[in-house]
Amino acid sequence: MSRDKSSRRTDAGQQAVDVSEAQIAVHWPEEGYFSPSASFIAQANLTDADVFERFSLDRFPECFKEFADLLDWYKYWDTTFDASNPPFWRWFVGGRINACYNCVDRHLANYRNKTAIHFVPESEDEAVQHITYQELHVRVNEFAALLRDFCGLKAGDRVTLHMPMVAELPITMLACARLGVIHSQVFSGFSGAACADRILDSESRLLITMDGYWRSGKLIDHKEKADIAFAEAASKGHTAEKVLVWQRYPGRYSSPTKLVEGRDVIVNDVLRSFRGSRVEPVQMPSEAPLFLMYSSGTTGRPKGCQHSTGGYLAYVAWTSKNIQDIHPGDVYWCMADIGWITGHSYIVYGPLAVAASTVVYEGVPVYPDAGRPWRIAEDLGVNIFHTSPTAIRALRRSGPDEPAKYHYHFKHMTTVGEPIEPEVWKWYHQSVGKGEAVIVDTWWQTETGGFLCSTVPALHPMKPGSAGPGIPGIHPVIYDDDGNELASGSGKAGNICIRNPWPGAFQTIWKAPDRYVKTYYARYCRDPQSKDWRDWPYMAGDGALEAADGYFRILGRIDDVINVAGHRLGTKEIESAALLVPDVAEAAVVPVADEIKGKVPELYVSLKPGVEPTPEIAHKVSEAVVARIGAIARPHQVIIVPDMPKTRSGKIMRRVLAAISSHQDPGDVSTLANPEIVDSIRELNR
Ligand code: PRX
Repeated sequence: MSRDKSSRRTDAGQQAVDVSEAQIAVHWPEEGYFSPSASFIAQANLTDADVFERFSLDRFPECFKEFADLLDWYKYWDTTFDASNPPFWRWFVGGRINACYNCVDRHLANYRNKTAIHFVPESEDEAVQHITYQELHVRVNEFAALLRDFCGLKAGDRVTLHMPMVAELPITMLACARLGVIHSQVFSGFSGAACADRILDSESRLLITMDGYWRSGKLIDHKEKADIAFAEAASKGHTAEKVLVWQRYPGRYSSPTKLVEGRDVIVNDVLRSFRGSRVEPVQMPSEAPLFLMYSSGTTGRPKGCQHSTGGYLAYVAWTSKNIQDIHPGDVYWCMADIGWITGHSYIVYGPLAVAASTVVYEGVPVYPDAGRPWRIAEDLGVNIFHTSPTAIRALRRSGPDEPAKYHYHFKHMTTVGEPIEPEVWKWYHQSVGKGEAVIVDTWWQTETGGFLCSTVPALHPMKPGSAGPGIPGIHPVIYDDDGNELASGSGKAGNICIRNPWPGAFQTIWKAPDRYVKTYYARYCRDPQSKDWRDWPYMAGDGALEAADGYFRILGRIDDVINVAGHRLGTKEIESAALLVPDVAEAAVVPVADEIKGKVPELYVSLKPGVEPTPEIAHKVSEAVVARIGAIARPHQVIIVPDMPKTRSGKIMRRVLAAISSHQDPGDVSTLANPEIVDSIRELNR
């Protein structure tokens, strides 16, 4: 067998998906119910059981008017739903709206002096900033004026943001939204190289970054990533016009990386000339893109999920109000990062659209100790809390008894991003929620804009380990591999799809409409010519089952995407990064279970002929993955193998590697081209 690079590349490109997380997903028995408390129900926004009737499929699409009516429109729409070009659905067509106006200006009348954003620095020695709606309005306007008048941005332009968890991030997003500029925020933990790919794909006019930020007690140099991102995007064919650099401490530059003359602009210097500026919000069509959010997919290239203005904002506002049960008086803390969809929908746009106070916390949850989140909750009076199973597992391990030491009271808590083990759910409920808080386990995705499955907190009992039924207006269905619908409540695993379109769904993949159709709609489409939305179920890419009570349990991805700590990483992205090390001939990554992060990537590599395996090479491979993607993708182990297990046609059998990594029986390997390799690989991964 040839082991040269070119033949390997072709090979990898043709590899079928031969392992899925669903196949190795954790399975647990059905649990009993927990009921919401009477005091929660008494104050809840949504207690009307008729809601499911109102949102039944035969009321589609007009039922979603209720979502859009939570917003202020400059011009009311004339068509609720336009299906003329499936599956490129359009919502609230003809309407004119501005997302920033809806999240800021319209709250001034009633909530001018209420905190919009509590910014909590990582260091407890640094003062918390309580930014009122009034102050948010001022700061967003001044920055919007800078973007428009100093940078010359206009509606439809793209900008890439590579910013940490600071108040300036939502301020930047809202300033873009005010102008109709499409923002694309890249998770700050991602590398400069990953940021470059996104600048290039979106053809962003600007890169907006920050000099540094605090993480685990260290002031991280973040500006150095901007230099890499800018240079790499330029070398691949797209040069941004400027790099705007916010200062973590206004007036003081906190990065050891030099500024580049003529290119880098210190935002805080230029902002001075925009003091007191006001910018009229631009009246955007409902269908204008609000932002791009890149997500990992089945090929190496991340896809830019394009979200709309009117439909998206209506969706996150309604779900924030009714599934998160946010009232304007609540203090709401979602511990996700704004660099992911959860942060966009449920730290920034949703909570601000419904006039909540939203917490932005800069640092790691357990810094300086496991009591930190509960001190923040106590100090700020947080009463709604939102986080991921990974964070819950970490907090449980490092301080199981900490929550009891603090006098906060949550009425409501969310878990999102991965399946949560019932045992972890129960700790969350009993210890973090003090047995008082209702829990929603919300299943959704970058593409879907907002929640798809969840219990309605005052209407349904909770069941640990199960997300729940489709939320009002969402009608899930499970198909088997042959396209047959599984009977509702069958308890059998299959591919979960949504029967109907909904306003929060992304509009397309930026510059890749064919990929959009192929990835999400082609597999179960009943007739590609059909203009009837009923023929176009949305395929989420997750394995799931529906229990007899109509609750869905999500088993994991059915494609080659690994969900690490609730964040999606494409196996191809990791494998291509490993191949950047010249000694590596082949790379295959598989998910392995991790006590805290749910899943982590484990990487198998084979080397070019004549290269001796050494720990240094393994280390280089690991570092290449971190440099190319970010620390989140760091392999749990890099195992150098003499050869990969392969089919006779040369495909790498990831299923076999996954079984070895999970210390499970790889099954019958006699049909492999090289069955003897299995035992030697097993020896290497004891
Ligand atoms: O596999 C599902 C898992 O996370 C994937 C979506 O990841 P991403 O687009 O990064 O968005 C994460 C935050 C919404 C899904 O395809 N997932 C998400 N929520 C849950 C979940 N798995 C089980 N239970 C959930 N509640």
